[in-house]
Amino acid sequence: MSRTRRVAVVTGGNRGIGLEICRQLARLDHHVVLTARDADRANEEARSLDASYPGAVSALALDVVDGPSVEAAFQHVRNQYGRIDMLVNNAGVAVDGPEHRPSSPDFARIRRTLETNLLGAWRCCAEVVPSMRAQGYGRIVNLSSTMASLELTRSPASPAYRISKTGLNMLTRTLAAELEGTGVLVNAASPGYTRTDMSPNGERAVELGADTPVWLATLPDSGPTGQFFLDRQALVW
Ligand SMILES: NC(=O)c1ccc[n+]([C@@H]2O[C@H](COP(=O)([O-])OP(=O)(O)OC[C@H]3O[C@@H](n4cnc5c(N)ncnc54)[C@H](OP(=O)(O)O)[C@@H]3O)[C@@H](O)[C@H]2O)c1
Repeated sequence: MSRTRRVAVVTGGNRGIGLEICRQLARLDHHVVLTARDADRANEEARSLDASYPGAVSALALDVVDGPSVEAAFQHVRNQYGRIDMLVNNAGVAVDGPEHRPSSPDFARIRRTLETNLLGAWRCCAEVVPSMRAQGYGRIVNLSSTMASLELTRSPASPAYRISKTGLNMLTRTLAAELEGTGVLVNAASPGYTRTDMSPNGERAVELGADTPVWLATLPDSGPTGQFFLDRQALVW
């Protein structure tokens, strides 16, 4: 690995927007640790990306709902590379949908959603903050959604998903406030309605969905923090 490369960890990097974020970061000559809960999938996708960007991509198993897996993965990155400059909390699930209503909660789905989309991202943030703070540099990007927006929401559908991402927005805001002035910038990004396994009818290609998260992961020191963006423009909370 070249000394000048920054080190990025991307969760859920084996498919969809996460894989494209890995690709775009590698193309920008960063070192990407492509993580996935299935080690074989991580290895397979990392090998394929590394063929295009030699030396830029490595693989690691990381299941965001499994505390010991998260601790071991970040410890491994710290030992291997000596630093973590960017964290992209991309891993997410959407296990409720148009038929679900907040008045008839399916707590199994709600727990799974919150465990992954909110607590999983939170766990990963907690892993990287001490070393980012110590080095005076860090970029944390949380993959949120327009469905998280209090201002834009009029629909009763997908309450677990919406609430998990609204919680993630507040994590973004509070963590950014805690880290103000430390060199660590924390922002949330909506990729827009993007064609992936999660949203097969999405209008956008993954290249566009990944653009704003990658922009936020590579902000200059003067960049924003504690904000929510779509298409590189501030989005209403
Ligand atoms: N697509 C959209 O229109 C859209 C819109 C707004 C926001 N988003 C957000 O963007 C992010 C990426 O979405 P996507 O469309 O690319 O979804 P996707 O194609 O369904 O991919 C989801 C990724 O998250 C991973 N994941 C799920 N649970 C995990 C866990 N416990 N630990 C580690 N990884 C886990 C999946 O891994 P496996 O392969 O192992 O399942 C997969 O790599 C999500 O946070 C999503 O909520 C997407």
